[in-house]
Amino acid sequence: MSVQFTWLGHSAFAFDFNDHKVLLDPFLTDNPLAAAKAEDVEAEIIFLTHAHGDHASDVLAIAKRTGAKVVSNFEIAEWASKNGVDSHGMNTGGGYNFDFVHAKQTIAFHSSSFPDGSYGGNPNGFIFTLPTGERIYFAGDTALFSDMKLIGEMGIDVAFLPIGDNFTMGPDDALQAIGWIKPKYVVPMHYNTFPAIVVDVAGWANRVSSETEAQPIVLDPGGTFKL
Ligand code: NI
Ligand code: MN
Repeated sequence: MSVQFTWLGHSAFAFDFNDHKVLLDPFLTDNPLAAAKAEDVEAEIIFLTHAHGDHASDVLAIAKRTGAKVVSNFEIAEWASKNGVDSHGMNTGGGYNFDFVHAKQTIAFHSSSFPDGSYGGNPNGFIFTLPTGERIYFAGDTALFSDMKLIGEMGIDVAFLPIGDNFTMGPDDALQAIGWIKPKYVVPMHYNTFPAIVVDVAGWANRVSSETEAQPIVLDPGGTFKL
């Protein structure tokens, strides 16, 4: 039994939750940092934070090929169902027990339209709690928000935070977030994929180490970390 995750570039991660395969925001085909092809990844569940193309564009193809269930907000789940994919809709603040992992949808301050402009519901983050006790906060695309203090009170082992700035919080706000969430480990995401979100991740990681109690886990695309 173990929990591990592999960064596939941008906000795309492949998780192994005690031998169950899960994908988060698997944007691969048009992702210049992609460490895997959409045709090759495996999943039982695909968790999706919002409808933007840099998170959702490969979801239907992967779900159709693998039979994975798409778990997202109600509107995105309806879209997935209409496109012939097994789905489970949730909404902000709700939790559900998916057998090998409990998932709760958090708020995220962002937007969530589909690439054609149609409504994609509200954006979310996820808190995953495993039967083996590990708790993971995946923030999705979001601004800094002070309710992250409440998430921190739950006891977070790993926080996945966007640091790329421009579309989400940047490095400074992510440091503030770490102070509120108090995770053991923090994993940066949503940076360096495009020119607008290039950041000095090594410099940021040094600040995490010196200014917070968290240990930064900076992966190269394709890199894996085991809890
Ligand atoms: Ni977005
Ligand atoms: Mn995004």
